[in-house]
Amino acid sequence: MIVLVGNTKGGVGKTTLAVQMAIARARAGRRVWLVDGDSQATAQAAIQIRAEAGLEPEIVCSLYPDGKILRQQVRLQKDNYDDVILDVGGRDTLALRAGLSLADVALVPFAPESFDLWAMQNMADVVDEIGAERDGLVTYAVLNKAEARSASVDNADAAEAVQEIPTFTYLDLPLVKRKAFSSSSGAGMGVAEQSPVDPKAIAELDRLVARVFEEA
Ligand SMILES: Nc1ncnc2c1ncn2[C@@H]1O[C@H](COP(=O)(O)OP(=O)(O)O)[C@@H](O)[C@H]1O
Ligand SMILES: [Mg+2]
Repeated sequence: MIVLVGNTKGGVGKTTLAVQMAIARARAGRRVWLVDGDSQATAQAAIQIRAEAGLEPEIVCSLYPDGKILRQQVRLQKDNYDDVILDVGGRDTLALRAGLSLADVALVPFAPESFDLWAMQNMADVVDEIGAERDGLVTYAVLNKAEARSASVDNADAAEAVQEIPTFTYLDLPLVKRKAFSSSSGAGMGVAEQSPVDPKAIAELDRLVARVFEEA
């Protein structure tokens, strides 16, 4: 299964979620390939830190900042893996479009902080354009860096605006802004591998992974 984590906006948590999902799936025994399509190479850097720390399981990771090469290589190598997770940069790039043309599922994180409906509509326009040329693309929007308060107006406003965009299937499985996500990802670790553990972060990631990979 190929999962693209994409948004034309930066800073929403694409790389964080791609790295966390890749580690979670590898820990569950899946053959995982993490593909970094962003020339900033943040996902690859996290996996390199993981390798240098000697953490198991090791994660197979490739960097293809060139969208044309990414498309070709994913097409050629995808069948060697159970799960292919694509992380792309926060702009409308060839890598994003290639990812959308190849993926079974596109996961679009958005953040309530500085929430920008125009940016989500812009992403929806790109998804619609690629989606019109192919069958079976499932596109999920998920709130990331959510405010911890369950009654957060910002969370609710952002979620409500996104639910009005028909392109997206809104997943009501928010990931709260938690230090566990940022610190573990930066160290190339899964939230479940870090100590002290943050059970809430682990639970949020687990239910997202279950939804994205098991029910597509
Ligand atoms: N759920 C979260 N909780 C806390 N920090 C987060 C969360 N998701 C992302 N971040 C932080 O937000 C910043 C942007 O995340 P990143 O994954 O690099 O975004 P993108 O790849 O979309 O540009 C990083 O500093 C990251 O650690
Ligand atoms: Mg990124």
